[in-house]
Amino acid sequence: MKTLDSFNFKDKVVLLRADLNSDVVRGKIFPNERLRVSSETIRELKKKGAKVIILAHQGRPGKKDFISMKQHASILKVKFVDGVINKNVETAIANLKKGDVILLDNVRRLKEEFIPGKNALVKFFIGKVDFYVNDAFSVCHRKQTSIVSFPKYFKSCAGRVLEKEVKALRKINLKKCLYILGGAKPADNIKLLGKNKVLATGFFGQLCLISRGIKFGGYEKFLKKMLGKEFGVIKNLKGKLGNVLTPIDYAVNVNGKRKEFLLGEFPNKYIIYDIGEKTIGLFKDEIKKAKAIYVKGPAGDCSNKNFRKGTVAILKAVSKSKGFSLIGGGHLNDALNISKIPREKFGHVSLSGGALLRYLAGEKLPGLEALK
Ligand code: 3PG
Ligand code: MG
Repeated sequence: MKTLDSFNFKDKVVLLRADLNSDVVRGKIFPNERLRVSSETIRELKKKGAKVIILAHQGRPGKKDFISMKQHASILKVKFVDGVINKNVETAIANLKKGDVILLDNVRRLKEEFIPGKNALVKFFIGKVDFYVNDAFSVCHRKQTSIVSFPKYFKSCAGRVLEKEVKALRKINLKKCLYILGGAKPADNIKLLGKNKVLATGFFGQLCLISRGIKFGGYEKFLKKMLGKEFGVIKNLKGKLGNVLTPIDYAVNVNGKRKEFLLGEFPNKYIIYDIGEKTIGLFKDEIKKAKAIYVKGPAGDCSNKNFRKGTVAILKAVSKSKGFSLIGGGHLNDALNISKIPREKFGHVSLSGGALLRYLAGEKLPGLEALK
């Protein structure tokens, strides 16, 4: 794989595809790991004398987090240019000097991003750009123009974030890996169900339990609303849960306070926010025995300090494990920051969710294939 060491970037125009996708809270984004690590690649390119154009996405069209890249630019302390392939951008590129950096607007504003090929997005940059750098490992599972089409038309290489991810992933012994699968996107987890032992947390654990016949009453309606069509995953779980360990108790939210109930005490009128103490104990025993561990997504709602106990306890136990540990997903990164467990205690902390999971499931990632 070619990297930033492979070329001389001095005075060259570099199109850098970064993953700056951030959580949006009431229209605002905040400094986070993805922005922090991306800024290191940017700094290196600047130092090498490149003229850098950053291209990135935020959210998905139609969703609340689908906003412009203006705030990202301000956190990264780079110039924001309003547009992706318009006159503004043309002028800004023409004016770039050695070491300058601009961030263009949300690439998902263009329909061409979703229809890869030699489209208007690619054609716009032909003749303006010398190199394409892909630093967005976490988007490499998407067959989107900025990921798979640019490498066909420009000299290309991996950025430091992508390079680091790929190098770390080569180190895991997948056969002996314990999977701890949680987070807010349960559908993807099915790809990892099979021979390996799984501890099911987050929404995924609840869906596994429903599939096993547990009744959560009114909470199921809430879950359906939260998950949308991913709720339908339940029917695909049948027959696949042989190696899956599910929670035996849960913490619910009673007027903001934490209260725990055994599985047998459901359905009740409360909303589940975390796994309970007994489940934490059970899962810790499994973590102690594991030779390698992959944790995907938090066990509960980490934005609320009363309900991070499960996630923090799991991360602490994993940090003590002697096997190689891999932590994945943006939300777990935030949880790590909150829990103050040093990152060096883990084999690798990935900034990727879906792409990482597919990689572990043995799928080829279109973005990595395109770089070959
Ligand atoms: C992510 O946040 O996982 C990446 O930025 C990819 O986003 P996507 O799932 O909307 O393609
Ligand atoms: Mg994601």
